Amino acid sequence: MKLVVTGALGHIGSRLIRSILPQDFAQVVLIDNLASQRYAALFDLRGDIDWRFVEADLCAPGLDLATIFEGALCVVHLAAITDAAASFEMKADVERVNSGGTERVARACIAAGVPLLFPSTTSVYGLSDGLVDEASPAALRPQSPYAESKLRSERLLAELAAASGLRYFAGRLGTIYGPSAGMRFHTAVNKFIWQACVGQPLSVWRTALDQKRPYLDLDDAVEAIRFVLRAGLFSNEIFNVVTGNHVLRAVIEAIRRRVPDLRVELVDSPVMNQYSYEVGKRKFESQGFRFRGDLERGIGETVDLLRPLAAGRAGFLRLQGRAAAGLDGS
Ligand SMILES: NC(=O)c1ccc[n+]([C@@H]2O[C@H](COP(=O)([O-])OP(=O)(O)OC[C@H]3O[C@@H](n4cnc5c(N)ncnc54)[C@H](O)[C@@H]3O)[C@@H](O)[C@H]2O)c1
Repeated sequence: MKLVVTGALGHIGSRLIRSILPQDFAQVVLIDNLASQRYAALFDLRGDIDWRFVEADLCAPGLDLATIFEGALCVVHLAAITDAAASFEMKADVERVNSGGTERVARACIAAGVPLLFPSTTSVYGLSDGLVDEASPAALRPQSPYAESKLRSERLLAELAAASGLRYFAGRLGTIYGPSAGMRFHTAVNKFIWQACVGQPLSVWRTALDQKRPYLDLDDAVEAIRFVLRAGLFSNEIFNVVTGNHVLRAVIEAIRRRVPDLRVELVDSPVMNQYSYEVGKRKFESQGFRFRGDLERGIGETVDLLRPLAAGRAGFLRLQGRAAAGLDGS
């Protein structure tokens, strides 16, 4: 059996592809444009799976995705421009890659007769208040070009399912925490861990400290994808995929338990006027999925990776000074 993963070298993809066993999939096609140079995500993959790496931009004219997808059990479409805060400065690219790229992938899935697994985001509930779930259309008020592109993609997939027979699963994922070979550090939890470990003050949005937000353990994200593939849950519906809802203060305190001398600096946010909200996960659980992730553990595993850096912070800061003085040779 064959699986296709787009954006396979990213934070989620690099962990997902390491969870695949040969009895799950004999062949796995990995598509990524290497935009973020995460070559290391391809290191040390197991040798008993037939990996095919396609270095390609999903939006490139002439790329025949339908042929690449043919015969696959599913296309897991992780490729996207994913930095919500930076998306304000690159609206056109976000729209082209996230909405346009998803439309291209979906149409190729239709042509190849392959179902699509699409990761949306809980950021589509950007201006919500209180508990929201998939049945709260009034709660859909995205606050960034990134979140808007994901909501537009959800709507496009529904249209393509009705008009052209697309079969898909759309999961609104909470903000990921937990380490992987291709992990990034621009999302909330990871960014704070990085700042804490290198001795920088945590830049926290002033409006966000006591607001609840949905988070997703990377283990749960990967298990959720595997669950959907096993169950064939391509019912053209949307499911929230969230391990837990936490106030930012709780995230910071969990980091402080491991990095006791961290400092917090309150900053103004480009995404204003947000309320506190929690995202319900019952619908996905009612399919039989169990969330097992844990914020403390995910934070601990990431801090552990950076612990030597945290321990040698004084040296790191001295090195920064040398680099600033032009002594780094690069
Ligand atoms: N990480 C999170 O907190 C989170 C939360 C909600 C939803 N999601 C969604 O899950 C998916 C995966 O997230 P992630 O954290 O692994 O993202 P990531 O940014 O770490 O990885 C995305 C990958 O896609 C690739 N890519 C980008 N544009 C491409 C293009 N045009 N053609 C081919 N490849 C391209 C990049 O090189 C990168 O390897 C994304 O769609 C994201 O929106 C992520």
